[in-house]
Amino acid sequence: MNKAKKLFIKTYGCQMNVYDSERMAEALGGQGYETTDRADQADMILLNTCHIREKAAEKVYSELGRLKPLKADNPNLKIGVAGCVAQAEGEEIMRRAPVVDLVVGPQSYHRLPQMEDAVRQGQRALDTDFPEEDKFEQLRARPKMARAPSAFLTVQEGCDKFCAFCVVPYTRGAEVSRPADRVLDEARDLVERGVREITLLGQNVNAYHGHEGGLAGLIRDLDRIEGLARIRYTTSHPNDMDDALIAAHGECEKLMPYLHLPVQSGSDRVLKAMNRKHTAQEYLRVIDRVRAARPDIMLSGDFIVGFPGETDQDFEDTLALVEAVEYGQCYSFKYSTRPGTPAAERAQVADDVATDRLRRLQALLGAQQRKIQDSMVGRDVSVLFEKPGRLPGQMSGKSEYLHAVHVHAPMGKAGEMAQVRIVESVTNSLAGVLI
Ligand code: SAH
Ligand code: SF4
Ligand code: F3S
Repeated sequence: MNKAKKLFIKTYGCQMNVYDSERMAEALGGQGYETTDRADQADMILLNTCHIREKAAEKVYSELGRLKPLKADNPNLKIGVAGCVAQAEGEEIMRRAPVVDLVVGPQSYHRLPQMEDAVRQGQRALDTDFPEEDKFEQLRARPKMARAPSAFLTVQEGCDKFCAFCVVPYTRGAEVSRPADRVLDEARDLVERGVREITLLGQNVNAYHGHEGGLAGLIRDLDRIEGLARIRYTTSHPNDMDDALIAAHGECEKLMPYLHLPVQSGSDRVLKAMNRKHTAQEYLRVIDRVRAARPDIMLSGDFIVGFPGETDQDFEDTLALVEAVEYGQCYSFKYSTRPGTPAAERAQVADDVATDRLRRLQALLGAQQRKIQDSMVGRDVSVLFEKPGRLPGQMSGKSEYLHAVHVHAPMGKAGEMAQVRIVESVTNSLAGVLI
């Protein structure tokens, strides 16, 4: 038998890339590849890239520079670029980086096996099509190996919203939903392999329409899968939080009390300029309705500061919205100009102003996060054990609110769930004892 070839994948960007990396590794498994965590032992290196901000894209070229010497050591090594930078700048990568053998976009990676054959014959291969065929139907069946307790499952891809700052509609294409029966089959298969928690993924996951009942309908069907303990979904758009999905938060036992609902800004002027198609009040109203259905829900969001035209008053409105919501977790970014997006043409906010706003926003978000995390002390939560904790005899996992929890649980195994009383809040996690 031939010795297995080694595949090293480095994943950047969002959870959808994490899922895609798994599927690409499986696709190349059919070509005789096993994954390795050592780039210097690989026969194929794939960078699964992110194009969302300028820095993310630049990282790809510097990483390619670092990988170059490996080719001198191993003439059989092939280097590929996948993901959103591949989609956006495929030809440019081929030109700028002769070290690259293969470029594949997020919608065409089911063609990796043929592309791998071509590069093994000494060709360079580029495929950034948005093919007619459904890549998930073309990919080989997922292998049956055991899995970690928590898994991602992509159910929706692409975006039709065209926020003025964002590259995703261009790199991922139009919104497409996978049929519910396929998603449910994949979920059952994951559960058979040891998965207890599934996070449904989509760039606009709550616009999912592969089930007649939308995302809520899919969640209700997943809720009935025996052995599955937890359901999450991300990322949502405020305008797609419909009544059925909000009701599911109150009624589906397995749907976890956590919602990532990005708003980007608290200023109606900026929201309009961003083409978000909702106001700050409308966003707050959605949050009120979700909280009415599930009072203990933990909220998380994304913010951009320094969007073109953002004034001091606009920024104050963002701070006011944050005060009103009280987030358990948040991601905040300085606006980054993305060529080809509408906002790139507009007058930019001075960098030092944006930097200062980011600092102030992060201080407020950090304080909120801290306060909510500290308020967990004394409360009972459920923890899904994922791996051994920091100290001997400890297990660590996530609470229903997605806090990392270290638990003294000498008999605990990954995949088990336990009721835990929180006794301490430390920097980035909680500590608890079994009850
Ligand atoms: N589909 C998701 C998010 C996609 S990108 C949604 O609609 O919320 C993840 C986050 O990156 C965004 O929510 C936004 O906060 C940030 N982001 C996107 N484009 C950006 C840009 N040009 N500059 C800075 N941050 C950006
Ligand atoms: Fe980007 Fe807006 Fe689509 Fe989210 S909804 S992926 S921010 S265009
Ligand atoms: Fe980045 Fe593409 Fe995800 S740009 S955030 S990897 S959809």
